Amino acid sequence: MKYFKKMKFKKIGSKKRGFITALEQKKNIPFEIKRVYYIYNVPSDVTRGHHAHKKLEQILICTSGSVKIKIKDGCNQEIIELNEPSKGLYIGPSIWREIYDYSENCTLMVLASEYYDEEDYIRNYNNYLRYLGG
Ligand code: TYD
Repeated sequence: MKYFKKMKFKKIGSKKRGFITALEQKKNIPFEIKRVYYIYNVPSDVTRGHHAHKKLEQILICTSGSVKIKIKDGCNQEIIELNEPSKGLYIGPSIWREIYDYSENCTLMVLASEYYDEEDYIRNYNNYLRYLGG
């Protein structure tokens, strides 16, 4: 699976008792989950990300609060807001992302298909465009 895609996960429960959302690898998560990390306590004026990955697949889920993600593929760009624990954003390889407007209570959980590997990052936008150009 390449590119990026908004995802919606099942909410089990009710307003009265609250909800459960379950994430299962190779079921509603399209890859084997090797790593989970979360980003939190980010000041509202900070932008994180500014990179793409060569191989890594990720799903971002804002389990608390809200955040915005600017996605670029070298031609187009799109801004996606995550503000619901049952929503997610799949980001495949070769997609540039910038993550900003973290609300005060934001926790952004990320499911990843690989272990952390600095070699998989492209951290410079010009290098990213060159990488896409082959
Ligand atoms: P990075 O992915 O660059 O985060 P952001 O784009 O949000 O700034 O990671 C920031 C630092 O954290 C970097 O030094 C690498 C380290 N890190 C790990 O050690 N393990 C991980 O799983 C991740 C995602 C980052």
